[in-house]
Amino acid sequence: MSLLNDLTGAPPETTRHALLLRLAAIGAVLTGTTCGFAYAGGWLSPGALTPARVIDRFEQVNGAHPGFRRNHAKGLCVEGSFTASGAGASFSKASLFAAGRVTPVAGRVALAGGQPYAADTEATVRSLALRFTLPDSEEWRTGMNNIPVFTVRTPEAFYEQLLAAKPDPATGKPDPTRLTAFFAAHPESAKAAALIKARTVTVGFADSTYWSLNAFRLIAADGRDTPARFTLVPERTPSPETAGQSVRQDKNFLFDELAAELREGALRWHLVATLGRPGDPTADATQPWPADRETADLGTLALAGSTPEAAGNCRDVNFDPLVLPLGIAPSDDPLLSARSAAYSQSFTRRAGED
Ligand code: HEM
Repeated sequence: MSLLNDLTGAPPETTRHALLLRLAAIGAVLTGTTCGFAYAGGWLSPGALTPARVIDRFEQVNGAHPGFRRNHAKGLCVEGSFTASGAGASFSKASLFAAGRVTPVAGRVALAGGQPYAADTEATVRSLALRFTLPDSEEWRTGMNNIPVFTVRTPEAFYEQLLAAKPDPATGKPDPTRLTAFFAAHPESAKAAALIKARTVTVGFADSTYWSLNAFRLIAADGRDTPARFTLVPERTPSPETAGQSVRQDKNFLFDELAAELREGALRWHLVATLGRPGDPTADATQPWPADRETADLGTLALAGSTPEAAGNCRDVNFDPLVLPLGIAPSDDPLLSARSAAYSQSFTRRAGED
């Protein structure tokens, strides 16, 4: 047989077997890789919510604004430092909480929404995103909003809400029927919307309180694990917005005032951790925690200046809430991984545009 194979040029039986096995293995790897890409791209589950579909929806609602963030599109870079009080060191081994430690911070204030040239209004949600640069290449990136609870509990509800709240071109306001249907399907969002509406809106970025909304976990050096939500509380006494503030000529009055105030001197906030107890909802950002929860004042954030967005500064940072140092860990909140994936998709698209 083998002599015949040699004479005809055909491979011997064992070689043919090995060849077939090798081809089968290559085929399996190729099929696996294709299935992996198909799964990641959502082709195997056309109904599933993927990061691309979330960002497509932002684009559908807000139109195309190449190069800008798909949400919180209008922003200004800020810089400063964080000085730790030491009160966080017993709950978290993160180096930035060691008493007296000064950590450089680069951040971004912004207004929620996907319209980079929209006029400032008091009612628009304000945000403060921060990037703490720690030793050993560690970082903490966080983004906080000036609302006490978030509007939705799940990424799917966020996706639905984006469309339900889309302004009707005829009226400039969301279609009330669609909005009512959304709240009927999501009673937790209706409750959260009432809490958000009841908050005191202050005159500017400088006297606003910002909430992390999502829960995290503080991990101590001895392994103790404490649920926590973060808040940035301004040192400045908050003044409620003044009537008619937004009918001013300056369509960027919130940003312009902040930039002017920062030229006068540093603005300070206290980074406060609210410590959860067993049973407090960590996977539902629409629900506040009971008001009597223990808090720890972790230290002072001092913002010392601002710079317009440009290449290489906060414009090119993805404030991914899952970039965490040792000592701060994610909770079971489903919004965290959804945010991380959506921010990355938004970043990838805008980074590839002019
Ligand atoms: C599933 C829910 C959410 C989705 C899909 C979503 C989506 C987005 C996207 C696409 C961006 C722009 C990111 C970039 O291009 O860099 C963004 C920015 C931002 N989001 Fe969310 N978001 C969600 C929930 C939240 C929550 C719960 C908070 C809580 C505070 C939050 C706070 C912020 C802040 C502060 C920014 C601005 C960051 C910056 O200035 O760069 N978001 N969001």
